[in-house]
Amino acid sequence: MRNGFLAAFGYAPEAVASAPGRVNLLGEHTDYNEGFVLPIALAQQTTVSLGHAVGDEFTLRSEGFARPLRFRLDRLPDEPFGRYVFGCVREVARRGHSIPPLDMHVSSELPMGVGLSSSAALEVATLRALRRFLDVAIDDVEIAQMAQRAEIEYAGVRCGIMDQMASSLADTSHALFLDARTLETRLWSLPAGTAVIVIDSGAPRTLLSSKFNERRSECEEACARLGVASLRDVRRVAVVESLPDPWRRRARHVVNENERVVRAVAGADGARLGRLMNESHASLRDDYEVSIPELDRLVSLLQEHPAVHGAKLTGAGFGGACVAICAADRIADVAAEVLGDYRRLGGRGRLLAPPELLA
Ligand code: GLA
Repeated sequence: MRNGFLAAFGYAPEAVASAPGRVNLLGEHTDYNEGFVLPIALAQQTTVSLGHAVGDEFTLRSEGFARPLRFRLDRLPDEPFGRYVFGCVREVARRGHSIPPLDMHVSSELPMGVGLSSSAALEVATLRALRRFLDVAIDDVEIAQMAQRAEIEYAGVRCGIMDQMASSLADTSHALFLDARTLETRLWSLPAGTAVIVIDSGAPRTLLSSKFNERRSECEEACARLGVASLRDVRRVAVVESLPDPWRRRARHVVNENERVVRAVAGADGARLGRLMNESHASLRDDYEVSIPELDRLVSLLQEHPAVHGAKLTGAGFGGACVAICAADRIADVAAEVLGDYRRLGGRGRLLAPPELLA
């Protein structure tokens, strides 16, 4: 990674940091309702390298872009990619640190736009690199909070905090049980003998930010109608049945989904975690309405495989990747057989995890 910066700028970087993407096992669209989530970090990372720039502009280069992006801290860049980095630099400045103009280089192993939090990985890697460069103490929870603010205020998606917390605190061998209200976390071991598999459906995530923000507003409306501060405060699903649609179904998904996460971490084996994931997908499809036919098809193929305990879409939905939990010793068969069947049905799927099966 150092070489990318060196080749781009002609000198060695002064600070380098990486952060992973995540896949969420359970607890979808619950984080911005102050609920529970269960993501796990991926092996794929984004790396940000920095050095002092000559002149008064920031220069951002990435392997994915032919031309450098230049910006100053007093004007939001037009390019969406630059806005994430700009937002993180601004967050650090807002914390009271003075930041000189920087040369910045980004390289990433994470596919973008498939629901594996490439943007959170970019934000957390940028903030970690700035922390190292400035030699300041910022803890990992605060890094996640700064990253979330950067995304909401500068990139325009009213996301919850799951992705940034996962990128900042999770590891690849445990899932991270997060209470999005208190930001308390606990590492949770996957059931014995199971492994996580992630397959991209190949369907692009169209309409994502507008639909995401619409769901968030619907949850706020459901809260107003129920007279609660947050859907987290609704414990019994019967309470939401009095609401008219679509608020009834949106709220029902959130209340049931929180319950599923709590039941999983209370001690689920592979079969039980799988059932909870299957229920989560059905709820995301029917009540929250964030699935699309390609995701439903891929999830069904995964669920029908005898070595798979359960499967669901992962992340915001509307396209992108699916996650399944399966018997660890059958993971190669599951990947080959499900991808083969999906392709025969016309899908353009590709395997994204586990790393040992990626060529
Ligand atoms: C996106 C958001 C997260 C979360 C998920 C859905 O990834 O960034 O905050 O809401 O969607 O679970």
